[in-house]
Amino acid sequence: MSGLSDSFQRPVDYLRISVTDRCNMRCVYCMPPEGVPILPRIDILTYEEIRDVVEAAAELGISKVRLSGGEPLLRSGIVDLVRSLAAIRGIDDLSSTTNGMLLYDLAADLKSAGLKRVNVSLDSLREDRFRSITRCGDLNLVLRGIEVAKTVGLTPVKINVVAMRGVNDDEIEDFALKTVRDGWHVRFIELMPFAIGHTKADEFIGVPEIRKRIEVLGPLEPAKIIKGNGPAKYFRLPGASGTVGFISPVTEHFCFGCNRLRLTADGKLRPCLLSDSEIDLRPALRSGDRAQVRRVIREAVACKPRQHELVKGRIPRRAMRQIGG
Ligand code: 5AD
Ligand code: SF4
Repeated sequence: MSGLSDSFQRPVDYLRISVTDRCNMRCVYCMPPEGVPILPRIDILTYEEIRDVVEAAAELGISKVRLSGGEPLLRSGIVDLVRSLAAIRGIDDLSSTTNGMLLYDLAADLKSAGLKRVNVSLDSLREDRFRSITRCGDLNLVLRGIEVAKTVGLTPVKINVVAMRGVNDDEIEDFALKTVRDGWHVRFIELMPFAIGHTKADEFIGVPEIRKRIEVLGPLEPAKIIKGNGPAKYFRLPGASGTVGFISPVTEHFCFGCNRLRLTADGKLRPCLLSDSEIDLRPALRSGDRAQVRRVIREAVACKPRQHELVKGRIPRRAMRQIGG
């Protein structure tokens, strides 16, 4: 198989799929307290359509798929979707990014259906703060979900922490210590500005500063990359079995290594997380013409921009919840 690559010769082998734009949390950087209007059901891709996309993508050389949301585990029948995608030839890494609220209940079934691993978004280890960031999250339930995910083998479980000044930045060291004491794999993500989310410029902290704060605990040695597809860079504190990862969409252009394409819950292929251009895949899908589906996927890959435009102050119109991270 020759595989897909974009016009800058970047190989594209990774598809992130938002299976729903609904969520059982209301994170402050993602939505206003009352939530945001959800997509009409009729616009949401069915599981059959998602499977068709993944089959076509696999025929083109996509080998890694991540299910995200909104909150992917909230969509009913998600275990069946996992089972059907895991059976597709050529898909060798099937993972999910979740807020963890339903992991305690679903981890074992997801694992036996063929999910390989999960990333869990967790921005605070303090119960009251966790609740105020997520507005409706239950920290203990998420922590129990993480443990079950590890026990059933959805590993490595990676914890995504969006660092925010004045909100959770006093927990950077606590999270880093979890890599030593509990073998966690923790990734710090720079807060990205989204038009719909309520991100505040003064809450931004860059990775260089986060890193300095962690280095007070000990030197960070580069770690062999743990299984992953993305732009994170991994390090280890002395004696840690877990890793500290950094994702810096803002302070560092990581676009040169971008290997991914995104599919929104309403069937739009999005060549870049941080640029608003999208290509509607639904007409091709609903026509049942597989060759056309492949053509549209190729077209979306071909229009991946060289790099995102945050630096020029262009902020995406859709929130992460709608794009799928
Ligand atoms: N900036 C940075 N990360 C974000 N996420 C959601 N919104 C933002 C934002 N504005 C994170 C989630 C999740 C991942 C998919 O993206 O917390 O871990
Ligand atoms: Fe839900 Fe994720 Fe948005 Fe939080 S960041 S409200 S968990 S979609």
